[in-house]
Parts: sequence; C-alpha cells; structure tokens
Amino acid sequence: MASPSATPARFFNLDERDYAAAEQRCRALLARMTLAEKVGQMSQFTSDRDTTGPSIREGYQDDIREGRVGSIFNAFDADFTRQLQTLAVNESRLGVPLLFGYDVVHGFRTIFPIPLAMASSWHSEGVEAAARVAATEAAAAGIHWAFAPMVDVSRDARWGRVMEGAGEDPLLSSRMASAQVRGYQGHDPRALDSVAACVKHYAGYGAAEAGRDYNSVDLSERVMRSVHLPPHQAAVNAGVASVMTSFNTVDGVPASCNALLLRQILRDEWQFRGLVVTDYTAIMELLEHGVAADPRDAARLAVNAGVDMDMQDGYFLDHLAELVEADDVSAARIDEATLRVLILKDVLGLFEDPYRYCDEAREAAALLAPEHRRKAREMAQQSMVLLENNDLLPLSPAPQRLAVIGELADSRADLLGPWHGDGQAQDARTLLAALKDRLSGAEVCYHAGVPIDIDDTASRQREIAEAITIAQQAEVAVVVVGEKEPMSGEAASRTDLGLPGQQLALALAVIASGTPTVVVTLSGRPLVLSELTAALTGQSAALLHGWWPGSEGAEALVDLLLGDVSPCARLPMSFPRNVGQLPLYYGQLPTGRPVFRENPDPRYSSKYIDSPNTPLYPFGYGLSYTHVDYATPQLDKPTLTGPNDQLTLSIELTNTGERDGVEVVQLYLRDPVASISRPIRELIDFQRIEIAAGARERISFVIRAEQLGFIGSDLRWRCEAGRFELHIGAHVEDTQMLTFDYQP
Ligand code: BGC
Repeated sequence: MASPSATPARFFNLDERDYAAAEQRCRALLARMTLAEKVGQMSQFTSDRDTTGPSIREGYQDDIREGRVGSIFNAFDADFTRQLQTLAVNESRLGVPLLFGYDVVHGFRTIFPIPLAMASSWHSEGVEAAARVAATEAAAAGIHWAFAPMVDVSRDARWGRVMEGAGEDPLLSSRMASAQVRGYQGHDPRALDSVAACVKHYAGYGAAEAGRDYNSVDLSERVMRSVHLPPHQAAVNAGVASVMTSFNTVDGVPASCNALLLRQILRDEWQFRGLVVTDYTAIMELLEHGVAADPRDAARLAVNAGVDMDMQDGYFLDHLAELVEADDVSAARIDEATLRVLILKDVLGLFEDPYRYCDEAREAAALLAPEHRRKAREMAQQSMVLLENNDLLPLSPAPQRLAVIGELADSRADLLGPWHGDGQAQDARTLLAALKDRLSGAEVCYHAGVPIDIDDTASRQREIAEAITIAQQAEVAVVVVGEKEPMSGEAASRTDLGLPGQQLALALAVIASGTPTVVVTLSGRPLVLSELTAALTGQSAALLHGWWPGSEGAEALVDLLLGDVSPCARLPMSFPRNVGQLPLYYGQLPTGRPVFRENPDPRYSSKYIDSPNTPLYPFGYGLSYTHVDYATPQLDKPTLTGPNDQLTLSIELTNTGERDGVEVVQLYLRDPVASISRPIRELIDFQRIEIAAGARERISFVIRAEQLGFIGSDLRWRCEAGRFELHIGAHVEDTQMLTFDYQP
C-alpha cells in the first residue's frame, strides 16, 4: 500500500528544468490573455465527430474561433482534427491550439481486451505494451489526450463499469494503473506516439451503493485512502498528466467539488502538478446532488475546490468571469488552472506545431498495423481465464465434427466491448469464422441457440431442441454464451448476473446431450455461473471465460481451444455464487464471529443460511494446460528488524505437466493483531513466471517493512510491530503460510 509522498510528483517524465522552462513560456502567454480567454482554456466540449443530438453544444466551432474552448473531445482522425485546429490557430485572437481528448480505454482502432480482462493477465509489461499501441494509433489520428486509465477499484459486479478497471484489489489495480500511464505517455511527451493520460475517476466511483451506476458513495476516509486511492496515487507517481473527477458524492460531498480529494490529497499530499478535468457535465450535476443552488454556484464550488477544466456543461464558460469580478473566485485560481492547461499543450509540442498529430500518412500506417494486431492477439490469449477443465481442453487432435452454438459465437461487435474507441466490428472475425478457418476440412455446424435479448420461454424449446440435435451429431460442442456489449459498461448496472435470456437453459441442454462441451462465456463483469458449473461436474466439459477479448479475440480463443497456447490468466475479481453475496471480495475483515473452516456450521457466525460466504471462483484463480507444483516456501530469517531491513521468501516451482506454462505466483499478507482490524488477506506482491514443461525454478520475493504498513484510525500511515503471516500460492484460497516477526 502506498504511503504519503513528500516530493513533487513527476509530470510525464520531465525533469525539473524542462518543466520550469515550459512553465516560463506559458506564463508569458498567460500574461497576454484576457480573463475570457483564460476561462475559454478551462472549457472543454464534445465535437460532432461521432455524436449527434442534444449533447452537442450549438455553435461549438464558433466558440473555437472566438477562443472560448481549450479542448475538444470525441474529435478524431487526422483530417477532422486539422480542420478544428485550424479554427483555433488561425482564427482565435491568440491562436492557442486545441487539445483533443478521447476515451482511448483499451485500444483506439486495434481493440485490445477490456481492461478487466487485461488485468486478468497480471502482466504489467503486456498491459503497458497495449497502452503503447493504443497511444500510437490515437496519436496518429489526431488525439493528444486519452481519458484513461480507469482505475476504480470495485467489489460489486453489479456495477457495469467494472469492465473498465482492474477489479477488486488495490495492488493489482495500482500496477495496472502505472503500466498504462507508462504505455500511453511513453518516454517523451514530445514523441509523436505519446499521448497525455488521464487517470479516472477520482475518486471512489467503484464503491457506488448497491452497484448502481452514479449512485452515492459512503466510505470512511481510511477505506478511501487504503483501497480506492492507491491506484490513483500510483498513476500520479508514474507521471500521469491529468486526473478526471468522478460523478459520485463521497461522504456527502460530490467528488467534483471535493476539496479534501482535489486539494489536500491530490495537491498537498501527492504534489500532483497536472490538470484536473471533470467528468461529463459533472459540474452541472452539482445541482442534482443538491449542493449548488444554481449554475453559477456550481461553477464556483468546482473551481474553488480545484477543478481546472469543465467537461461539457459550459458552466465555467458562462460564469467564471462574473465570479471573478464579484470576488467569489480569485484571479490567481483562474491563472493557476489556465497555466496547467497551457503547460500540457506546451509539453506535447502543440505550440511549436499544432498539427503535429494530424498526419494522414502516419494515421494510415498506424491503424491496425500487423504488429498491433499481433499484440492484441497475444494479450487476448493471456487474458482469458480457464475456469473448469474436465479432461477436454485443449481440443487436440482437432475435432473433425464440431458444433458451434450461441448467438455470441457469430458476433463481431460483441467481442469489442464498450469504450472501443474507433474500433470497428468489421475488423474482427467471429469465433465461428475463426474456427471454420482453422479447422479447414472439418465439419463445423452452427446454431444460434436462443436470442440473448429476448427472454422468450415459448420459442426456446424449439431452438434448444435444434441445438441439441447438432450437438449430438458432433464430436465436440462449443457453446458461446454471455452478455452482449450494451449489458456492461457505463449505465449498465444489473441486479441479475446470470446468463441473460434463456442461455443457461441452452448451455445446460447441450451439456446434458452427452457430447463433450466447451462453454465459452463472454462478458464485461463476473457472472453468476453456479448452475452451469454444477452441471459440468462428472462430464467431459470445460469452461473458459473470455471476457470481451477485442479485435483479435476470436483468433485468440481458437488458439486456446486448439492448444496452440495454454491459458494463463487469473481472476482479478471474485466470481460470486449469487448476487446476494455482493459486494464480495477476498480482502474482507475477519468479523468477530468468523466462519472457521474446521467448524463450518455454528449458528451464530457471520454467514448466510442459504449460501456459503466464499465465491464460486476466488480472486487470483485460473487453470492452465499444465500443472505447477509449489514446494515448501522458505524465509531467510525469522525477524524484520527495522524500516530498512528486508526478508527474502523463496520457493521452488516445478512444472510437472507436459506443456510450457505461465504461473502467477501470488503473495498475500495477514496482520493478525494490530491497532485496527486488518483484512484476512492482502495481496502484497506477485510474479508472473514462464516455466517450461518439466522445468524447476526458484523464485524469491523481497519483503520490506513498508509492505506491512497500513492507514490507522488516525488516518496516518503506520507500520506496527508484531507477528505477521505470509501466504504464498496459486490463488487466494490455495496458499501456504509462513510467519515472521517485525521488531523495529
Ligand atoms: C465517462 C467518462 C468519460 C467521459 C467522456 C463519461 O460519461 O464517465 O469515463 O471519459 O464520459 O466520454
């Protein structure tokens, strides 16, 4: 867990001299600006590039000409961004270039698996490489600024936006956050393939009550700091250029006017120097939250709390000047915010060449480049989680008669998932097409099964009967079930996490047909798969969770099914047995009446009377086509003697299977006695190891005192003496324990 920092955060990876030089240049420009022009820089609007309707600001192009806009989002492609940039540069009084932002969340044109899937790879370098590809393509299409990474920790699969983050764990989310910032921003902000990153949503958005999107959040400041803020801080430490505020309230105060978050923590404690932008119309929503009386009041609250740029509602544009004149907002605050916008433009090189990102030739070469597709395929292979395998996968030798069943098996659009940038369904293949291609010579029969959107029990009988018939004529059936793209993502919370429509009945019928069955589930969130899993027991069957795997997802799925590659992903979020367990996460506190494993049925313990407490599939879980044995772990000494001391834990792993594999070795901590109750497990480190068939590898983890620390009830970070447990293993419920003492 990160501890408070006292040194100024990096801005990209600029050194102090370069930052100071940019600031000096921008101060000179600031001195020439009118108040209205400054407020213009603090305002952002969507373009009409891919949106139509009432959300467009009428006459936004005139706003650009008149210097009333600092940034445009949803404008992309080299040609269109040049047209808009020309308005700003040639027609506005000072010619300050626009900053073009866009939601480049898991790829721009080459679409990678959704972020929750990428987090399942536990592969920071791979995730960094994915963000690099996304940045390269986006930058070639005129974009300067990616609204990513989304780092909201979430422990409630009802919330549709879990698909955008890295799941339930602060450490894994932090590693994914910094990997993405490095990937988007690259080594040098002036490189033509670097874009500014924007960590979002700050903060606590993933803790929406009841998993309902945009709902209130009520967290103690301690939990906020311990669980939800670390990935944001990791992004700040990695040099992220900007932060986006979240829609929700935190302890009654909306995040978009929350001085604790925006001033005390972000600026004073973390020393963040970049830009703070709101989420879409979040200042306007201060009215609905009931903390602002009118638009002017909302603008005042947001700017005084520390917001630098207003996304879309135009409240800054309409009210900041009069607020300054009335002394309700200081001129210094406006200068501070404007300067941050200008510095970002400066370090991206836009003052030198406002059109440097608008280059059609570069755009044509970058989009869907073969190397980008290759990386997307690799990442998709590494992010699908094998949940069950009763001696069925891989399908080797390849079957000669295959039944492929399910609407999703023949869908391209649903493979991309929400927030797919400029990704296009036509760039992806369906699983059906990929299987037919790779199994040339084999007979591949397809049935669409039951419609996903329509829960029609009447017609399902006929469709299921037909599907069973084709399954029975095949050697193997592949049933693809799950969510369609609009079923997860923003504003897509659900209360039922089972397979939508009649898909469960379809899958159960195919499994019961007696034909060996691979069930592939696709979704943007953990699903409730209890009945499905139970039906697999004793059958020749397998369950592979493919998430939404992106443009190359179908190819990657076939790679795994046929055994060209072994699955290696591990769940970044617990899969519940039923919705009633939510929120569900491994890092819970112990409770005064725990359910002990050795005594599973005491009446008055913290449990349900109709369900186990445990998830169906735990955090960190995932199978592969090989088996890795863990020997007894060892510690080099029994005691850690001070803040600078360290322990080394080592363990030998043996790949006892016949295939090369990747093992994600997970290290958890428990602090059984402390000044506050501590989680029963806390991930403190992990390593992703490639291990050849038959090979034996010794790996080690270094444990330092800072990894034992936590935020106490006084909100101060502390590290307390005592005995600690380390739990090392293949997932959170499959570990070996060691103990050591911390005696500073
Ligand atoms: C989302 C943000 C996104 C913004 C701009 C909002 O609705 O919450 O994540 O960056 O729209 O598209």
